[in-house]
Amino acid sequence: MNPFTTYYHPDFFCDRENEMTQLKGNLENGLNTLIHSPRRLGKSALIKHLFHHLEQEKEYETLFIDLFATAKTEDLLRSLAETILKKYHSKNIIQGIKTLLKGITPTITFAHDGTPSISLGLKEGQQETTMSHLFDFLEKRKNKVVVAFYEFQEVATYPEKAEAMLRTYSQKLSNVRFIYSGSTNHLLQNMFYSASRPFYQSSEVLILEKISRGAYYNFIDSNFTRSNKEIEPAAIEQILDFTDCYTYYTQVICNQAYYKTDQKLTAKSTEALVKNYLDNRKIDYINLYNLLSENQKKVAIAIAKQGIVTKPTSIEFLMKFNLPSASSTLQAVNTLHEKEILYKLPEGLIIYDIFFRRFLEFYF
Ligand SMILES: Nc1ncnc2c1ncn2[C@@H]1O[C@H](COP(=O)(O)OP(=O)(O)OP(=O)(O)O)[C@@H](O)[C@H]1O
Ligand SMILES: [Mg+2]
Repeated sequence: MNPFTTYYHPDFFCDRENEMTQLKGNLENGLNTLIHSPRRLGKSALIKHLFHHLEQEKEYETLFIDLFATAKTEDLLRSLAETILKKYHSKNIIQGIKTLLKGITPTITFAHDGTPSISLGLKEGQQETTMSHLFDFLEKRKNKVVVAFYEFQEVATYPEKAEAMLRTYSQKLSNVRFIYSGSTNHLLQNMFYSASRPFYQSSEVLILEKISRGAYYNFIDSNFTRSNKEIEPAAIEQILDFTDCYTYYTQVICNQAYYKTDQKLTAKSTEALVKNYLDNRKIDYINLYNLLSENQKKVAIAIAKQGIVTKPTSIEFLMKFNLPSASSTLQAVNTLHEKEILYKLPEGLIIYDIFFRRFLEFYF
């Protein structure tokens, strides 16, 4: 099996030891945690890894609730109810619904694999009672329970006052701890860092950073070695340079590197491999590029070539890349940021998608 997966697998998980210690420590001390980071660094995988360990140790029961496609409080409640039913009442869903969702009569449909989906059809005023029934169920479990709400910023977009309701009901629980997670963006930051919002100072914060270069180096090296393949040190360095150590991109390139290597991966063949990967993705990125205005194209290329840019409107930067006026450049930067093509790190601006960054760097 290829050890460089693009989905979570407990046997092929790199590092995150400090984060695991911190998360477990928070649970032991009854604290909730907010985990956020730029995209694709490994938030989902970290929570899954934590849950895998907690379930193995049998001290905690875990529920992962993905709020990605939810648009209202009822969707959150449905998603929570379905996860509880699947985990605790899979043998008798109907009975489960009766005990769990007192007073409402949802419609149930089953997928081919038996996974239930329910439609709650809540009436005015039934949201709060349903939330309290679901939380009560978890509160009464013998083991402690951890609920992860993933893409939690969606809650801020619900038309109802969901944040306040969730905060009120979750605060009453002593047996249930929460992990809130999402990509670093203004929605999520406002929820937790604005004094007027219900979740203000409600949680410990873990900002997930890149896996350290040293840890990733060892992970790549040992996974080649344990399958009796070899990789030159310079080849590993080259991969990590190319991906800038960002998790998703490193996994993708290592996955290719692994399956295209019979015995030994050299630095020279890594160069060809990486070039070949970009060539294969070229069409996608040309399409993305063609959606940009002329100024946005120029600014994106300049930022890609520079790597990280602290002052995009400085004379040096404008001159170096022959960019339009400071105000036009700033406008392009703002639009690229809104389109999530640029990401603002504390140190400066970068192109969010590393492969797009390399595409712009190499082909223009
Ligand atoms: N510690 C790790 N070791 C090995 N692979 C990992 C690790 N963390 C994440 N990955 C892999 O990297 C990719 C991105 O991780 P993941 O999906 O968890 O990121 P994310 O931060 O949740 O991204 P998004 O913002 O898109 O939700 C996935 O393919 C995942 O399997
Ligand atoms: Mg994710």
